[in-house]
Amino acid sequence: MSKKLKVGVIGLGMMGQTHLDVYSQMPNVEVVAIADQDEARLLGLTQAQGNIQGQAQGQVDLSQVQRFTDGYQLIESADVDLIDVCVGTNLHLAMAKAVIVKGRHLMLEKPVARSHTQGLELLALAQASPSFVMLGMCLRYWPAWVYLKQAIDEQRFGALKSLFCERLSSFPDGDFYRSSQQCGGAILDLHIHDVDFISHCLGRPSEVVSRGHIGRSGGLDHVHTQYTFAGEFKDAVVTAQGGWSMAQGYPFNMSYTANFEQATLGYELGDGEHLILYHGGVAQAVDLAAGMGYEHEIKHLVRAILSSQSTDFDSLHSAVDALAVVEAEALSIATGQLQQPLYG
Ligand SMILES: NC(=O)c1ccc[n+]([C@@H]2O[C@H](COP(=O)([O-])OP(=O)(O)OC[C@H]3O[C@@H](n4cnc5c(N)ncnc54)[C@H](O)[C@@H]3O)[C@@H](O)[C@H]2O)c1
Repeated sequence: MSKKLKVGVIGLGMMGQTHLDVYSQMPNVEVVAIADQDEARLLGLTQAQGNIQGQAQGQVDLSQVQRFTDGYQLIESADVDLIDVCVGTNLHLAMAKAVIVKGRHLMLEKPVARSHTQGLELLALAQASPSFVMLGMCLRYWPAWVYLKQAIDEQRFGALKSLFCERLSSFPDGDFYRSSQQCGGAILDLHIHDVDFISHCLGRPSEVVSRGHIGRSGGLDHVHTQYTFAGEFKDAVVTAQGGWSMAQGYPFNMSYTANFEQATLGYELGDGEHLILYHGGVAQAVDLAAGMGYEHEIKHLVRAILSSQSTDFDSLHSAVDALAVVEAEALSIATGQLQQPLYG
């Protein structure tokens, strides 16, 4: 492999632009090809907006890259090592398959796919392939969330007593978000970040109880869930709320409150990012590494490929499990009953 990783990015919406920003800052990476069906986006005449300050800045020099109006043309003919797929979720499985069949490394935005069944299909393909496959579950790399996972793993403040994660915004722009067939509603598109992170820290939930409602996407655009675990976290009270049914102008925010035997952690990313540790009667701001999860996840990906690591299948599997949890939550809302995720 060449010293610099040659990258192609497919889909230049909010996430494609965010990833391009990150690649453009990395000395060991060269973006050599981009693709979008929307010619105005492809030519840089229009730009998707990020929902977090500092995201999707679009200040990347793309004058020398190859351009394709269809992602499949890029997969077929661009001379690249890694293909970063940032198209809508309903297109993930087919495009990811094409990348793996072509023998390229794959970065795939979250959620893995539109359904748990599709996720399992992708997992099986990845397991049979030498390609490095990684998913954009960015919270796993976001400094304030990494801090939380370490605190739980190390029992730094004693056992975890409760965890509440929340992610709210107004309805996002774009045709993709207006169609639950494509995006799966906020339960799949937004709330899955918290579902995945909770499972990443505490293991697979054994049961879920959810309430929620349908919104402008035509799917479940607001959800509140209580999770039950077997084993170590069986007594922890774990809940999450997510939705994009807030009034227009309501800013995107994500937060968590984690209560331990000896301390409480309170995190918010709204107007700025704050993590406060309440310990021994004192409230103290926690110093965090700079950068958002997108940057750290892509740096991890590039390092892993350049050092010939193989896919982290546990991590991929757990992202696929998150789809089963979301489907159980949807069923719990529909039936009004507790559900056990069918992990397969
Ligand atoms: N990690 C995160 O925090 C995060 C945040 C937002 C969105 N996402 C995910 O990223 C994905 C994209 O979201 P978005 O907001 O950027 O969507 P978007 O609809 O704004 O952008 C997708 C782009 O893909 C292009 N496209 C579609 N089919 C194509 C094809 N065959 N070839 C080339 N281009 C094609 C579209 O023209 C569009 O410009 C979704 O799966 C979404 O869930 C992740």
